[in-house]
Amino acid sequence: MRVLGIETSCDETAAAVVDGSRGLLSNVVSSQLHLHRKFSGIVPELASRAHLQKIASVISAACEEAGSKRLDAIAYTQGPGLMGPLLVGKVAAQTLSRILGVPLVGVNHLEGHIFATELTEELRFPLVALIVSGGHTDLVLSRGPGRYRVLGRTRDDAAGEAFDKVARMLALGYPGGPVIDRRARSGDPRAVDFPRPFMPGTWDFSFAGLKTAVLYHLQRRGGRKPEAQETDDICAAFQEAIVDTLVEKTLRAAREFKVKHVALGGGVAANSRLREMLAARGIDNGLRVVMPPRGLCTDNGAMIAQVALHRLSRRRVDKNFRSDPAMTFHSWGA
Ligand SMILES: Nc1ncnc2c1ncn2[C@@H]1O[C@H](COP(=O)(O)OP(=O)(O)OP(=O)(O)O)[C@@H](O)[C@H]1O
Ligand SMILES: [Mg+2]
Repeated sequence: MRVLGIETSCDETAAAVVDGSRGLLSNVVSSQLHLHRKFSGIVPELASRAHLQKIASVISAACEEAGSKRLDAIAYTQGPGLMGPLLVGKVAAQTLSRILGVPLVGVNHLEGHIFATELTEELRFPLVALIVSGGHTDLVLSRGPGRYRVLGRTRDDAAGEAFDKVARMLALGYPGGPVIDRRARSGDPRAVDFPRPFMPGTWDFSFAGLKTAVLYHLQRRGGRKPEAQETDDICAAFQEAIVDTLVEKTLRAAREFKVKHVALGGGVAANSRLREMLAARGIDNGLRVVMPPRGLCTDNGAMIAQVALHRLSRRRVDKNFRSDPAMTFHSWGA
């Protein structure tokens, strides 16, 4: 079974071909970062137009790289995401599915982030998944593919959003995650004691207060721009606070729900300190922690195709383009 996965939920036009037995055959990602950088965030209308311009060539490149014309199904990101960009991917997927006469599978983007790991490692269930991305911070208990319970999510900023906003305060550019990750390596995480928003009694997260603590720290300096070393220290201290919170709550959830497996996913899963701390503390707690390779943490079509392979093996496809409610992202919050 060979699936083409199309991902257009935000600012990456992406397509990939995954084979059920041979694994990842191709993975093409066209980033729109250069378009949005000057606005320090995604402009939805610009994103939709750029997806329209790129989608055909990205899909062709993915099929060519896969070295085979045979496709047994077309998968696309159904949501969550930006409406215009999502529609571009959906129409492309529907068109291909009709022309080729193969099934169409709508995939939840967040389920995709969990299954990105499976392109290189085995996922074992039950597991607790931490999805940390530009728009989400979700802690999910999963008993198998398609079986999810969202334990908690962010009440305000997503983890990636907090990285992006703090980077903006420090004039480090967009996206903020990768640059804070890099600058933090030369900084001292104990230089500033930022709060850890553990929020006892709930599995939810909240990073707005931590973000404001960074703002107050900068304001206390009377508008003086931090020197390079101070910037590195603030990056390291902020990153440590956010990573500490994410790791602590994930490990507590694994303990509480008596699971032995933890999976990480989403763009922030590329963060080196998060990967290091979760792996180390996972071992200390007798857990098997798995995470995608860095290149598959941010949005890509491969993770969408991977979820579709599971769906197809359970024979839950989108006949005649009508959504099966059980497989749409609406079921995610249940
Ligand atoms: N090394 C890193 N450290 C921290 N954050 C990172 C790193 N690399 C990327 N990010 C963050 O990941 C986010 C992008 O992730 P992703 O592409 O999964 O988000 P999205 O698809 O826009 O959101 P969602 O998946 O919630 O719809 C950005 O906020 C970016 O700053
Ligand atoms: Mg994403």
